[in-house]
Amino acid sequence: MTAKSHILLGQTLSFDGDPFNDPGAPRHETRGAVVVEDGVITSTGPADTIQRPAGAQVHDYGEKLITAGFIDAHMHYPQTAMIASWGKRLIDWLNDYTFPEEARFGDRAYAQEIAARYFDLALAHGTTTSVSYATIHPESVDAYFTEAQRRGLRALTGKTCMDRNAPDDLRDTAQSAYDDSKALLETWHGRDRLGYVITPRFSPTSTPEQLEALGALWAEHTDCLMQTHISEQVEEIAWVHDLFPTARDYLDTYEAHGLLGTRALYGHAIHLTEREEARIKEVGAGLVHCPTSNTFIGSGLFETARLKSAGHRVGLATDTGGGSSFSMLRTMAAAYELSQLRGTALHPSQLMWLATCGSADVLHLRDKIGNLAPGMEADLVVLDLHSTAAIAQRAARANDIWEAVFPTIMMGDDRAISAVWVGGRPCLD
Ligand code: GUN
Ligand code: ZN
Repeated sequence: MTAKSHILLGQTLSFDGDPFNDPGAPRHETRGAVVVEDGVITSTGPADTIQRPAGAQVHDYGEKLITAGFIDAHMHYPQTAMIASWGKRLIDWLNDYTFPEEARFGDRAYAQEIAARYFDLALAHGTTTSVSYATIHPESVDAYFTEAQRRGLRALTGKTCMDRNAPDDLRDTAQSAYDDSKALLETWHGRDRLGYVITPRFSPTSTPEQLEALGALWAEHTDCLMQTHISEQVEEIAWVHDLFPTARDYLDTYEAHGLLGTRALYGHAIHLTEREEARIKEVGAGLVHCPTSNTFIGSGLFETARLKSAGHRVGLATDTGGGSSFSMLRTMAAAYELSQLRGTALHPSQLMWLATCGSADVLHLRDKIGNLAPGMEADLVVLDLHSTAAIAQRAARANDIWEAVFPTIMMGDDRAISAVWVGGRPCLD
């Protein structure tokens, strides 16, 4: 019989607050412990003083670093097999690479194969929760949720709705988008650890009627998240102005149809106007930074430091396969590099916070995932801070935990992922 209580020993990193506001927020233990009982963290603290439950199985990770599992707040699992497709900007990239691949997801077996492949890759990179776009096909939502449920993962997705400016085999209608999304939501939302996300792809591929229908669905299910893209590329913004001539701006194409709220997730959000930023902040909607995608597709420089200090909620994401990596470590590195181009060096604690607590915050799941604290679900990653020769020789000179972690953030990949725990069980150890 497997033990239901576990004690994990190693270095530990957790957050008492947001390090963008409070440099004292990170909590690091050089010899820490995390106690897990029935899938939930029951205590965490210094190893020598923690109360150890009788019969708990001990997992000693030595000098490795135990943190909350990474949370990828915006990705497209159906784009797994076409990641790293060369040479296009957003609209051509969608038409030439993305849509032909997404058209295959009406085939349930193919959707299942790619969903399984995606979760294998995500877990190998330490990502324990992903928020995905599916395709227009209900089968693609079923495949993702079935695979996540089988693995005990907390996972979110929704049917991607498009009723214009997409190929014939990738278009639904306002009514079918509403009906299919509602049926999928009723089947999956709140089942085990799964959450349904209402998903209009972006304004260029939805008619006002479809946006209105999905706004109505969201109003009927206010506990669901809603995800879409906004202001990723300048050509896209010009197109939105042509398609919605009476809208005040890009955000207004969503706002006017009931698609603005605190549970909204706006991917990219690079070129927002003052009004858009102010309105998003006012309602407390989430911005999702996708740094490897923003460089790969040539979109622009998201202003992490400025938007965080202005009080925005910001999560971090790979945006697979517009993003060029499945790794949230690589994604943190890209966030660092892009912020440097804007004149601010993000601190390693801020990068780790964005990939865990920050993403959990935009998902309204901070009471469940993204941190090491009593009551949190035990989704954990154990990082080897010496995973390659290049990283190890730099980490050997570290004077503190941040100098020890930063080489892994900048140069680490799946080799740095020593163990992953999902719902209190080791699934990669
Ligand atoms: N905008 C609309 N659809 C997409 C997509 O699939 N990827 C990215 N990066 N941007 C989008
Ligand atoms: Zn995207």
